[in-house]
Amino acid sequence: MNTSDGKTLTVPRHVGIIMDGNGRWAERHAFARAAGHKQGAEAFRTLAYYCRDIGMDYLSVYAFSTENWKRDKLEVSAILRILEDYLIEAIEKMAREGLRMRILGDTAPLSERLKRLIGEAHSIADTYEGFTANLCVNYGGRDEILRAAKKAAESGAAFEDCLDTAGLPDPELIIRPGGEHRLSNFMLWQSAYSELYFTDTLWPDFEPADLDAAIVWYNQRERRFGGR
Ligand code: IPE
Ligand code: IPE
Ligand code: MG
Repeated sequence: MNTSDGKTLTVPRHVGIIMDGNGRWAERHAFARAAGHKQGAEAFRTLAYYCRDIGMDYLSVYAFSTENWKRDKLEVSAILRILEDYLIEAIEKMAREGLRMRILGDTAPLSERLKRLIGEAHSIADTYEGFTANLCVNYGGRDEILRAAKKAAESGAAFEDCLDTAGLPDPELIIRPGGEHRLSNFMLWQSAYSELYFTDTLWPDFEPADLDAAIVWYNQRERRFGGR
């Protein structure tokens, strides 16, 4: 990818984003929290197309954590409803748009309707190659590690092949908008050597230009992986 001043930048193969700040965005605009989540989904839609266009392979976004069930029932159902609408849209157009949508996380506690939509989206995504957007739903890094360890012990398969991210490269770059400097249980195994980028911009306000800034910053990092 090229910057406006003609420099060539390396686009990471896999970027993770902790989509935080929807609630504060809503508060600032005197809207209900659900409106913040809706605007957050719009930001995700725009960014997913942008990531596809700049040649990224995988974008993994944290949409709902294993801890987010602690929230008010109405907020949880608003988030899951937005997810349903998003999946319906993806099922309808993702093949045409050259985008694969997958869900990472423990889907067992989700509604039958959501599970059916996830199954449909996955079966479409399995029919072609190309840019993949992973939506992490009822995802928690600790939960993923425990599920994978159990599965590996039962099946004899390699541990990493039992993670939700089996077959994916580790994210080279993890971005957290919203001003907090923590992982909040996102990709604990996979982030061992990820570059961590934090910005105060709230997720619903996050635009392709903000991703460009993170990629410029990423290109300035020297990755050593414990070597010298
Ligand atoms: C992130 O935004 C979305 C989810 C965690 C589901 P928040 O809802 O956490 O927004 P803030 O942090 O309260 O602003
Ligand atoms: C992390 O945000 C989870 C998602 C973005 C889905 P939270 O808002 O849940 O994280 P904390 O509570 O600030 O650590
Ligand atoms: Mg938050």
